[in-house]
Amino acid sequence: MASQTESPPTTPYQRIGGQAVLRAIVDRFYDLMDRDPAYAELRAMHGPDLTPMRDSLTGFLTGWAGGPRDWFQGGKCVMSLHRPLAITPDTARQWLEAMHRAIDETVGARDPEIARAMLDVLKRMTTGMAQATRP
Ligand code: HEM
Repeated sequence: MASQTESPPTTPYQRIGGQAVLRAIVDRFYDLMDRDPAYAELRAMHGPDLTPMRDSLTGFLTGWAGGPRDWFQGGKCVMSLHRPLAITPDTARQWLEAMHRAIDETVGARDPEIARAMLDVLKRMTTGMAQATRP
C-alpha cells in the first residue's frame, strides 16, 4: 500500500533547505574569510563591511539553485562582476576552500550528495573566474 509521504524536493534550492540554509552557508563563509588568516589575501580584496556581500551572495545562490530570482532580475551577471578583479589561482583556491568548509559544516553531514554537487559547480566557476581575470 502506498504510504503518505511528502513529494520529493524538485530543485536544489528546496533540497538544500531554502534561503535560511543558504544564508547560513554564506554567513559561515564570510566569517571564515574574516577571521581565518588562511584567507587574509582574499579578505583584503573585499571592502571593510561584508554585510552587503552576505546579502548579495545569498541572493545569487538563491536564484542559482532554483529559488526566487530577485538577484538576477536587475540583469546582474556574477562572472561580469568579477572580471575587473585581479583573481589569482591562489585567491580562487582560498575562496573555494572557505566555501568548502562552510558547506561541509552546514549541509555536508545531512546531505553529502548535494554538498558535493554544489562544490563541483562552484569549483568550475572559480576556475573560470581565475582564468577570465588572469592579469
Ligand atoms: C574565484 C574566487 C573569487 C574571488 C577572489 C572573489 C572575490 C570577490 C570580490 C573581491 C568581490 C567584491 C567585494 C567588494 O566589493 O567589497 C566579490 C563580490 C561578489 N562575489 Fe566573488 N569572488 C570569487 C568567486 C565567487 C563565486 C564563485 C561566486 C558565486 C558563487 C561569487 C559571488 C560574488 C557575489 C554575488 C558578489 C557581490 C556582487 C555585488 O553584489 O556587487 N564570487 N567577489
